[in-house]
Amino acid sequence: MRKTAQKREKVKKRNDNRVYIFDTTLRDGEQSPGFSMNLDEKLRMARHLEKLGVDIIEAGFPVASEGDFIAVQEIARHIRKPQIAALARADRNDIDRAWKAIAEAAHPRIHTFISSSDIHLRYQLKKSREQVLKEAVDAVRHAREYTDNIEFSPMDATRSDRDYLVDMVQAVIEAGATTVNIPDTVGYTMPDELGDLIGYLFEKVKNINNTVISVHCHNDLGVAVANSIAALKQGARQVECAVNGIGERAGNTSLEEIVMALETRKDILGFSTNIDTKHIYRTSRLLTDITGIPVQPNKAIVGANAFAHESGIHQDGLIKEKITYEIMTPQSVGVTDTNIVLGKHSGRHAVKERLKKIGFMLTDDELSRAFKRFKELADVKKQIFDEDLEELISDTIFRKPDKYKLLYLNVISGNAAMPMAAVRMEVEGKEKQDAEFGVGPVDATVAAIKKITRTKHSLIKYVVNAITGGTDAQGVVTVQLGFNGHSVIGRGSDPDVLVATAKAYINALNRLDSLRTPDTKRTEKPSL
Ligand code: KIV
Ligand code: ZN
Repeated sequence: MRKTAQKREKVKKRNDNRVYIFDTTLRDGEQSPGFSMNLDEKLRMARHLEKLGVDIIEAGFPVASEGDFIAVQEIARHIRKPQIAALARADRNDIDRAWKAIAEAAHPRIHTFISSSDIHLRYQLKKSREQVLKEAVDAVRHAREYTDNIEFSPMDATRSDRDYLVDMVQAVIEAGATTVNIPDTVGYTMPDELGDLIGYLFEKVKNINNTVISVHCHNDLGVAVANSIAALKQGARQVECAVNGIGERAGNTSLEEIVMALETRKDILGFSTNIDTKHIYRTSRLLTDITGIPVQPNKAIVGANAFAHESGIHQDGLIKEKITYEIMTPQSVGVTDTNIVLGKHSGRHAVKERLKKIGFMLTDDELSRAFKRFKELADVKKQIFDEDLEELISDTIFRKPDKYKLLYLNVISGNAAMPMAAVRMEVEGKEKQDAEFGVGPVDATVAAIKKITRTKHSLIKYVVNAITGGTDAQGVVTVQLGFNGHSVIGRGSDPDVLVATAKAYINALNRLDSLRTPDTKRTEKPSL
């Protein structure tokens, strides 16, 4: 047999063609600016990831903060199907903390890492190769005292000396690592190069067949998905990725893109995953709803235009036969055309059924609250879309009991008046009201709230989006407030953009308040 044919045969035999999807939305994704989530939001996200069918959820980095620890622990307690991974540096204390957080998981995994590139060793760790190799092995051995499900990552692997990388991978497998992840930490490598590196590891690492090889690609040069596919072709069987491609800097491999690429081009790639693709769009929407950061309209798979055909020639072809311009159906990722659902004549039962259909199983009490809010909304908005219902649920059901509440807002504005806002609020159960002028109506509204709450946070970001089309669309306002090095996102929705602004600002104040008093005692299962 010729050498390349032999090589291809070896790659084929390496594993079956099942690819494990390791989701890092709640770790690499959550640590990136603007994507921080509170405990309830992380649990909702994790529950959706479980429904989506991911194999492993990386729930966080427990040693990083008390909040991270609690979130990982709660996810480990409630999410039972996927493996729950906790990240730890190659350090005994980190590993002990990671284990403590995931000990109650049905399928716990410790993910430990240390850098392997000379650049990192020389400038960041200031340690020799021998020293770092020993620390990697010690870390895996220590983790082995807790579990036999251990992932090891040589950070900055793609810029590491290949033979040193071979030594490190071989040594950690020998020490008990069951998954070895090859991170392209700085998003520097190219598909052929990464494929070649994975092939090299399969050739040189003697005990490599005792482990699953994984890849973790960053998207700095826009090729994270292509890199991940190249690695799979050379024998990797785990891909680390995040919903909407969020993550450090330019993000990680996008979950929806890698999954749909493997699904749509099964004919040439031949891989399968456990993902229920019909749940992709909803999971992506949940993330944008929670963080208030939308995906760009032309984003593959989940962007607003991903299935919109504008050109006359394309529309003509589609009417004749969908396959002319459609490589996958919108339904296959959960985008439906049946979005218009309810109006002011819809009853409680219809609302309940629709909520069930889009994934919300509410208790009777939750349904009563949601239905009351639905009726209020339907009074001012003719058609209630699925997106409106999602927003309504996140506004009425999943919001924590608040320190601050908006009771009343009246704004005077226009080109012949000095903008002025009068606000009445409840602050820790007591009603307070005040008024303020501003350079515009938004400024006046925020100034009045600041006056009542005696707060002085800087407004880092203010974004207004319409959830659906039409002049009666609900406005969704996202604000980001900064305070003492913390930043927090607040969101509010209402057909009136100024009311949405007040709600968002107050929501951010409540979140800041809960950051100072973390909700450590919450143990009940969320209703989603
Ligand atoms: O990008 C990276 O190297 C990482 C590791 C912790 C896996 O996120
Ligand atoms: Zn990363």
